[in-house]
Amino acid sequence: MLIIQVCVGSSCFLRGSKKIITEIERLIAEFQLGDKILLKGCFCHEKCTGGVTVTAGEKFFTGVTPQDVEELFKQKILPAIKGDTECL
Ligand code: FES
Repeated sequence: MLIIQVCVGSSCFLRGSKKIITEIERLIAEFQLGDKILLKGCFCHEKCTGGVTVTAGEKFFTGVTPQDVEELFKQKILPAIKGDTECL
């Protein structure tokens, strides 16, 4: 089970955490990964940047926006789940 955490700290929240969570939920449903991904909220990782901080396993992704979260999901998270790349 891969744990994805979306920061809902004040800085990230103002930059679109809620939209990112909604988008990740949509992608999990689209790719039928509900049994492989656990999506959680988390508080500030002190990596506040121009976007939202998202973690997938041990990896941090900073500056994520609602516009680029689908690309992040498809390029980094999907391959890791399918075993096409290193574990996150
Ligand atoms: S509020 Fe999200 S990393 Fe600081």
